[in-house]
Amino acid sequence: MTSIAQRLMRSKTFSVVYQDLWRPTFTRLFSLGGSATAEFDRALMSYLSRPGERSILDVACGPGNYTGQLARRLTGVGHCVGIDFSPAMLSTAVRTNSGDRISYLRADAHAIPLADNTFDTVTCLAALYLIPDPLPVIDELVRVCKPGGDVVIFTSVRTDLSRLPGVGTIATLGGYRMFEPHEITGRMHDAGIPDVEQTIIGQGQYVIGRKPAT
Ligand SMILES: C[S@@+](CC[C@H](N)C(=O)[O-])C[C@H]1O[C@@H](n2cnc3c(N)ncnc32)[C@H](O)[C@@H]1O
Repeated sequence: MTSIAQRLMRSKTFSVVYQDLWRPTFTRLFSLGGSATAEFDRALMSYLSRPGERSILDVACGPGNYTGQLARRLTGVGHCVGIDFSPAMLSTAVRTNSGDRISYLRADAHAIPLADNTFDTVTCLAALYLIPDPLPVIDELVRVCKPGGDVVIFTSVRTDLSRLPGVGTIATLGGYRMFEPHEITGRMHDAGIPDVEQTIIGQGQYVIGRKPAT
């Protein structure tokens, strides 16, 4: 918990301004001020929040900005669980993104305290690049996903821009990691998801994989 980014995630003030101010701005920055990332994000969320009786886990949910959306159109016993290790983020989540089909749990993404093969969809959005040891988290996402379910990640990717002198150093000092283009897909593959779809937009990547049904 030493980087600037990790300290921000623990801040009450940051958790309050995150959803309406920081996240929309940061999403635009990912496509360098353009709207491509935001557009992909909207389309993905519309797919992930389709009506149905599904179980969803939102890992590193922050103030529940996506957890709330993911749960919005669930039906029957459909339920969405958000986990995060920041008490400040979780208390904002409970206050601003609660609902009948939503639960929050304080937990470390490296050791998710939930059974194997539990969720139809497991998301981890805008978080892996802040986690000092992020690749084992991917194993956990795959472990708790049901066979036939989807694992969905949004994170950073190293590009020509981020290879410019100084950019990497500033990012590292802030606690922000840029993944090599095949790092996330490779780990998903090793964790048991052979077919992974990767969409690189600007400085970010969406990685979506379906856990084999058997
Ligand atoms: C930038 S926020 C992302 C929030 C939301 N998922 C989104 O897409 O906007 C990153 C979150 O990751 C959480 N986080 C970082 N490391 C974590 C860990 N090891 N276990 C659980 N949560 C973690 C932080 O507390 C923070 O709430």
